[in-house]
Amino acid sequence: MESAEIVPTVNALRARVAQWRQAGARVGLVPTMGALHAGHLSLVEEIRKRSDKVVVSIFVNPAQFAPHEDFDRYPRTLDADVARLAAGTELVFAPSVREMYPEGFASRIEVGGPASGLETDFRPHFFAGVATVVAKLLIAAMPDVAIFGEKDYQQLLVIRRLVADLALPVEIVGAPTLREPDGLAMSSRNAYLGPRERAIAGRLNAVLRDAASEEAATRDLLAAGFDRVDYVAIRDAATLGAPSEGPKRILAAVRVGTTRLIDNMAVP
Ligand code: PAJ
Repeated sequence: MESAEIVPTVNALRARVAQWRQAGARVGLVPTMGALHAGHLSLVEEIRKRSDKVVVSIFVNPAQFAPHEDFDRYPRTLDADVARLAAGTELVFAPSVREMYPEGFASRIEVGGPASGLETDFRPHFFAGVATVVAKLLIAAMPDVAIFGEKDYQQLLVIRRLVADLALPVEIVGAPTLREPDGLAMSSRNAYLGPRERAIAGRLNAVLRDAASEEAATRDLLAAGFDRVDYVAIRDAATLGAPSEGPKRILAAVRVGTTRLIDNMAVP
């Protein structure tokens, strides 16, 4: 199996993509932080259908972690990731922190709208960190299309907002959440879970699916063994504002042990 080319610099990425574009190819980008699982691979598969050349970025972005969060222990498995991407990916962009944030770096993109509340109440700097790195990735790769998972539903809406507001010429595709057999959304952070925690984690999806109200779901999550419920919220699916006539989404963030998990789904 042919493996993907790995480039560590923005210049090398730009040069390769420029060649492809000159040849008339349509370019797709899958931004990730690595520790790839089947959910990530489903994004690669999906974007393959929409592009001739696929770029996967692998970068654990320090700007989206607070000092007390898990940046240091976040799994880094570049060799295994590249092996898993194998035939479906032409290029892996794997920059260093210094490449993305050179000496003196001092800019930050703030997004309002869908970034307000929910994750922001618990991780106030998170979406500015995500928006900044995603803008950099999009501007570096200049893809025709980029794909993001509904697993991180608020993030997906924030990125749609960012791309619209900056008039970036890229189509943003949202992809469904891949789950383990018991319903647990696949996540690189699931690797942190011990066996007891893993069993509790599997309840999150079922509780949200059966939620009669935010309060009832919070009670059920605590009863299921979660140590803390950051939020359970039923919101307008398009804006994440208060629910209205249109489609609704239920979103939650919980802690089990030292691991924080998020999940969400459409409200039928
Ligand atoms: P990461 O958590 O690695 O996720 C990369 C992409 O995979 C995101 O779009 C995420 O929503 C998607 N994803 C994660 N788990 C999934 C699952 N179970 N099913 C389907 N898709 C899933 O999200 C990030 O990285 C970062 O914030 C990033 C956007 C790369 C910016 O640093």
